[in-house]
Amino acid sequence: MYYSDQEKDWLINFRAKLFNELFMKYSPKWDRKNARLLDFSGGPVILNYISAAPHVNEIVHSAYKEDERKEIELWKNDNKDAHDWSPYVKYVVNEIEGLKGDAAWQERVALLRSKIKVASCNVYDEHPITPAEDSFSIICTSLALESACKTFDDFKAGVKKLVQLLRLGGYISILFVEEETFYSTKEGKWAVLQLSLPQVQEAVEEASCVVLMTERDPMPIESLENPILFDQKAFIFLAAYKVK
Ligand SMILES: C[S@@+](CC[C@H](N)C(=O)[O-])C[C@H]1O[C@@H](n2cnc3c(N)ncnc32)[C@H](O)[C@@H]1O
Repeated sequence: MYYSDQEKDWLINFRAKLFNELFMKYSPKWDRKNARLLDFSGGPVILNYISAAPHVNEIVHSAYKEDERKEIELWKNDNKDAHDWSPYVKYVVNEIEGLKGDAAWQERVALLRSKIKVASCNVYDEHPITPAEDSFSIICTSLALESACKTFDDFKAGVKKLVQLLRLGGYISILFVEEETFYSTKEGKWAVLQLSLPQVQEAVEEASCVVLMTERDPMPIESLENPILFDQKAFIFLAAYKVK
């Protein structure tokens, strides 16, 4: 429902641009041969780390639901029933990264498939991913903590647990919706924890991180005036690194 048409997906440009900027700017700070990335609660969606693949050795894609993990396995194994992410990979590699030609994005698909490992996750578990792993150089999470957490205290505790999985100097990037109360899928309407940028900053700072990047992408005027599928004010991207 949300990821079927790259050309009509107005989040992809913001998401892809910011994640690419993060990896381009900060990947020289880590050793590519050993660096591991965690996408926390990635659902069935591979979009956050398309640009990361050349800069890390392993990508752990964690997802809460079994059918989400199955979707990622299908795509990794190039199964004919998998969701077709190729228009998105093509867009990120050809347009955002500027590497032209079909070979460039097709190679990226192969690279992603070779680096992804699937895990399960639950922000309320003491160790939020299974199998339990830590020492990540970078953790990404998008649109997930505000869906999973019931209160701001739960959110802060979740951020702390994620930061504990990072190496000293490791990066955490959170893409979240500003002040959203609900979103809809084919299965129904889902409540969301309302969050603001100062709150997310507070959470990462309390977890011993220093904020490096923040950027806001406001919703189109029509969507703000007439919220049907969701009612957020903007998408916000925040990246920070662990100093203690
Ligand atoms: C809006 S989706 C976001 C998925 C994906 N990261 C993206 O960018 O589209 C919210 C996700 O939160 C997950 N979720 C729900 N409860 C959770 C929990 N307790 N721990 C971790 N994730 C949870 C759902 O399975 C779902 O995939």
